[in-house]
Amino acid sequence: MTAWKQAVARAFDRADEYDGAARIQAMVADGLAVAIAAEPLAPSPHVLEIGCGTGFLTQALRSRVSVGPMLASDIAAAMIARCRTRIGEVPDLHFAVMDAERPAATAGFDLIASSLAAQWFAHLPGALAGLAALLRPGGLLAVTTLAAGTFREWDAAQDKAGRVSATPAYPTIETLRSMRFENCRTEIRLEDVRETHADGAAFLRALRAIGADTPAELAAPRSAGQLRRALRAFDAQGASVTYAVATCLIRRAGEPKSARQP
Ligand SMILES: C[S@@+](CC[C@H](N)C(=O)[O-])C[C@H]1O[C@@H](n2cnc3c(N)ncnc32)[C@H](O)[C@@H]1O
Repeated sequence: MTAWKQAVARAFDRADEYDGAARIQAMVADGLAVAIAAEPLAPSPHVLEIGCGTGFLTQALRSRVSVGPMLASDIAAAMIARCRTRIGEVPDLHFAVMDAERPAATAGFDLIASSLAAQWFAHLPGALAGLAALLRPGGLLAVTTLAAGTFREWDAAQDKAGRVSATPAYPTIETLRSMRFENCRTEIRLEDVRETHADGAAFLRALRAIGADTPAELAAPRSAGQLRRALRAFDAQGASVTYAVATCLIRRAGEPKSARQP
């Protein structure tokens, strides 16, 4: 695992205030569960969840879809422990510490789902291709991730302060729509979700609380003076940020397993 990825995992391990600060993540996870429930699925689908975190999607999915055996995974061991605590002991629900870009799982899933974890992948198209290859014919890979335009208000405030933003370079909708996966049909939806904070300091505290404060790989060092100026500019703009949330529905060719198949 690269040093940057280890830093990402450590930041999420430390995120014991996640649930109190992750309003957008809770909302997006529920929206993804609704979108998945509206899709044709195999009966009692065999599910792999990627980047389960504290279990917002795990819980939403289990309440909206009649799932079969489920493996909930995350790169951060402490996140898995928090998810276990949220869901409790449930038959046929298993957990694994796993980097989704090197999945230690064998093919045969009817549904692979992930909410707001894929923006942490080092190589999104390669990672999604690897996950799509684990689907059964007719299976669905359903992922929300962040697209270009996310945190544009914070980036603009930093520009004004002469500070280079450490926000990762999220893919544009065109880049996402140009992704192709073998034997799969892909649909990408984009939605802006806004969140207003008391001020810029509260925004940065919330990012840290949810473990999302690891700067982009190779981000340039910035000074404390630049940060203060950026925070003033951000507060003057109203301390709101946009999350550009992309929902990727990747369907493997073939019929979903029917109730009569083993
Ligand atoms: C913003 S949280 C989202 C958690 C949860 N899905 C939710 O909706 O609240 C991102 C999660 O992705 C995990 N993650 C980041 N990179 C990962 C990777 N390469 N493989 C698996 N999980 C990863 C983090 O540890 C963290 O728990």
